Amino acid sequence: MDRLKGRVAIVTGASSGFGRGIAMSYAAEGAKVVVSDIHEEPNQGGFEGDAKLTTVAAIREAGGEATYVSCNVTKQSEVANLIQETVRVYGGLDVIVNNAGIYRAGKLAHEFGIEDLDACFDVNVRGTWFGCQEAIKQFLKQGRGGNIVNIVSTAGLQGHPKQSVYNISKGAAANLTRCLAIEYGHEKIRVNGICPTYAKTSLTRALFDDKDFDKAFTDVIPLKRWGEVEDIANLAIFLASDESSYIHGDLIRIDGGETLCRFSV
Ligand SMILES: NC(=O)c1ccc[n+]([C@@H]2O[C@H](COP(=O)([O-])OP(=O)(O)OC[C@H]3O[C@@H](n4cnc5c(N)ncnc54)[C@H](O)[C@@H]3O)[C@@H](O)[C@H]2O)c1
Repeated sequence: MDRLKGRVAIVTGASSGFGRGIAMSYAAEGAKVVVSDIHEEPNQGGFEGDAKLTTVAAIREAGGEATYVSCNVTKQSEVANLIQETVRVYGGLDVIVNNAGIYRAGKLAHEFGIEDLDACFDVNVRGTWFGCQEAIKQFLKQGRGGNIVNIVSTAGLQGHPKQSVYNISKGAAANLTRCLAIEYGHEKIRVNGICPTYAKTSLTRALFDDKDFDKAFTDVIPLKRWGEVEDIANLAIFLASDESSYIHGDLIRIDGGETLCRFSV
């Protein structure tokens, strides 16, 4: 359990869902984790077994090291402060997981309002951009490389109906991942993206509870189940660790085989 021993990692949007799972698993692997979000309390109604505990409290209870820093990723000054606080508390930065994100769906393109478009671009594009940019500045200052893991989505790799504003924001995050891998690989800054399909978090709770959706969704997944937070956290550990040291600029699907084919057997 020491695959990230001694590393300092920031996880954005870490009070709930994937971010919380990644933060907890990084701490369990020996990282010092900066848990960051717009509110410290976990979203209620998700799948957390211990939703009364903040992520930092859960990490400390398990014997890990973590600190909370409030940060709205849509504000560059707050992201810059997040990096500064991390360096102040833990002395440097090795890994950032740009996980904070929001979802908008259920409308055709001509029905979406500008507020849906702006919300997706603010959090999913600008938030990821600021996280990457500010972390890269710190990595360059330190001169010892660094590691960026962007939580994208299968929505960033293909078109999906009735969620165009989300899809195009995740498409931007996917291409940002590729651009940065090209620009900063020679500085030993690795950049990769994780592309999950629907997994069980507060973001998807309503879909999970919709029996018709659940059946239609699991029918087309060759592994016949929803993604779990642990599935994504395990991949995030691998990408932040030296085990993946030659994986760079990749966008890794984690979808039970969903995007292989639209037909099931
Ligand atoms: N759950 C899925 O099925 C799924 C699938 C593919 C991709 N994703 C992506 O995974 C990431 C995490 O999603 P999740 O399912 O864990 O969602 P979630 O809603 O359970 O958790 C998201 C967290 O991000 C925080 N957040 C929202 N806006 C923020 C902001 N402006 N600044 C800082 N924090 C903010 C929220 O407070 C929350 O704690 C998102 O980028 C999402 O698009 C999720």
